[in-house]
Amino acid sequence: MKNKIAYFEELVKEKISEKRFEHTKRVLITALELAEKHNVSKEKVQIAALLHDYAKNLSSEELVDIIEKSGGIVTSLEKMEPEILHGPAAAIIAEKELGIKDSEILESIKYHTTGNENLSELAKIVYIADAIEPLRDYPGVQEIREAAMIDLDKACLLSLNSTLDFLLRKERLIHPLSIKARNYLIMKKLRSEVIE
Ligand SMILES: [Fe+2]
Ligand SMILES: [Fe+2]
Repeated sequence: MKNKIAYFEELVKEKISEKRFEHTKRVLITALELAEKHNVSKEKVQIAALLHDYAKNLSSEELVDIIEKSGGIVTSLEKMEPEILHGPAAAIIAEKELGIKDSEILESIKYHTTGNENLSELAKIVYIADAIEPLRDYPGVQEIREAAMIDLDKACLLSLNSTLDFLLRKERLIHPLSIKARNYLIMKKLRSEVIE
C-alpha cells in the first residue's frame, strides 16, 4: 500500500506545479482525517486525494480533447469554463493511463469540483477536503470544517451553498451538476426530517 501511494505521489509531483502539489498534500492530510473519522478506506482516500488535481496543469484544449476522445460530450457551458473539466479529465487519465479501476476513486476525482447527486462517502470526503484544506480561507469555511467532522452531507451542502452563493454574486455560470448535488442533499434532508 505504501509503495502504491508513494508511486502516485511521485507521478503527481511531476505533473503539477509545486504550489498545486502543496495544496494536494494538504487535501490528502485533511481527507485522511475525515476518512478516519467517518470510517472510510484510507488507501482509497489517499489515492483519490493525490490524483484529484492531476489534470490541473493541462490547457483548455487538452482537457476538452481528453473528454471528447474518451467518448464524452463537452457542453457549451463547459467550453466556456473548461477549468471545470480538470476533474473529469483526471478521472479518465487515472483509469486509462494509471490503471485505476475502483469506481469510487474515479468518481471522487471526477466530481471533486462540481459535486454530484448520490456521491459515495469517499467522494464526499475528497470534495470537502478540497474545500476546507488548512489554507482555504473564505466566509463560512470554519462552519464547513466543523460540520465535516460530524456529518458529511451537511458539510457538502454548506460547501455547495457557499460555492453557489459566490458564483451568483459574481454572475458566473453554475454547473448543472452542482445544482443537482444541492437539490439531492436538500431532498434527502427533508425526507429524513419527515421520517423523524
Ligand atoms: Fe481541483
Ligand atoms: Fe484541489
